[in-house]
Amino acid sequence: MIDFHALAEKFETPLYVYDFDYMASQFEALKEAFRGRKSLLAYAVKANSNLSVVRHFAKMGSGADCVSIGEVRRALMCGVPKYRIIFSGVGKRDEEIVEAIDADILYINVESEAELMRVETIAASKNKVARISVRVNPNIDPQTHPYISTGLHANKFGVDLESAKRMYIRAKNAPSLEPVGIHFHIGSQLTQLSPIRESAEIVADLVRSLAALKIELKFFDIGGGLGVRYKEEQTIAPYEYAQAILSTLTGLDMTVVCEPGRFLTANAGYFLTKVLYEKRNGDKRFVVVDGAMNDLIRPSLYNAYHHVNALGKTGEASAADIVGPVCESGDFLAKSYPLPMMAHNDLLVLESAGAYGFGMGSNYNTRGRSAEVALERGEARLIRRRESYEEIIANEKEFLEL
Ligand code: LLP
Repeated sequence: MIDFHALAEKFETPLYVYDFDYMASQFEALKEAFRGRKSLLAYAVKANSNLSVVRHFAKMGSGADCVSIGEVRRALMCGVPKYRIIFSGVGKRDEEIVEAIDADILYINVESEAELMRVETIAASKNKVARISVRVNPNIDPQTHPYISTGLHANKFGVDLESAKRMYIRAKNAPSLEPVGIHFHIGSQLTQLSPIRESAEIVADLVRSLAALKIELKFFDIGGGLGVRYKEEQTIAPYEYAQAILSTLTGLDMTVVCEPGRFLTANAGYFLTKVLYEKRNGDKRFVVVDGAMNDLIRPSLYNAYHHVNALGKTGEASAADIVGPVCESGDFLAKSYPLPMMAHNDLLVLESAGAYGFGMGSNYNTRGRSAEVALERGEARLIRRRESYEEIIANEKEFLEL
């Protein structure tokens, strides 16, 4: 049992707490599912990019799936070997491509023909060879929230099969490009296996037709997306997931690359917030807390559910909106949530907050970002201090003409 009261007392609220042992067990479970096959787990840094989290996975042999050069730098800094780093994203700036080529990472994941040409030009100008993969958009509906669905042609991600084929042919003929992988990622928080299997089949068929053109790819990158339980979702077991993918690869000798984010960190994380006040507007009950949408935006943005634990509170529960101090009606952490009567300084713990929680935070309303704490083998340690007012204004202050 985690002593949340002691943590809130010591580190204050709002606060993120991550169970590093749970993260490790999730990593091991997924690794185990691919055991005996050539595989690389490349942690999707965006899910939780705290340096200590990235280092935690690096120590277990994880690679890193990065979507900005900033994330690539984080991965390198935390000891992820360059040959386990992937750089994805629909819009890479020239400087980012240059730095990725110089860093000699495993491959750059290219998402358009125009981007392929930029990478080719940049690599040629440096007299280097850039290893690339192409992100294929298999046009499959992943059956998840529209904001985190990425595998349909209506989404901005990847390229269709025909374009992908053309891009591989171009890459094979370009002296400054080496096509080494193929990638797809159809969405996040996936709870259905069939869209994943179907996408893998489509992409594996493309790999076979490329092999017929003497374009031999080594990495079959299945993206991330494995869903977790926030409420009552039926999730996909790692073993079923791995088997579904591997079954599409018959006859192909490839390393499976997987980019899990949420699966590794979501349910390791807790967001701690303290009650400021109870209030009513007519019949409507609000519990006003010190955490807000700038700390955890998932409820506001996706209507996401996070289980709320009103620690140690008993008594009859009635529905309340749990809201923060931010000046937006969209600032809520939960809607119509059954809670007993709350008092000033009572603690609420929001669960499953380890992925896309802190990282999507902002300084909106001049609120400093929360502190982050790691729990490992019974010990709690600070891994990010609370952001101060001075830090928030640091980049503006010099421009004040007094
Ligand atoms: N690989 C690629 C190319 C991705 O775009 C993503 C996530 C991942 C891997 C990791 O996906 P995961 O295993 O975490 O599902 N902010 C949203 C989720 C956005 C996901 C973006 N891409 C949320 O809070 O639900």
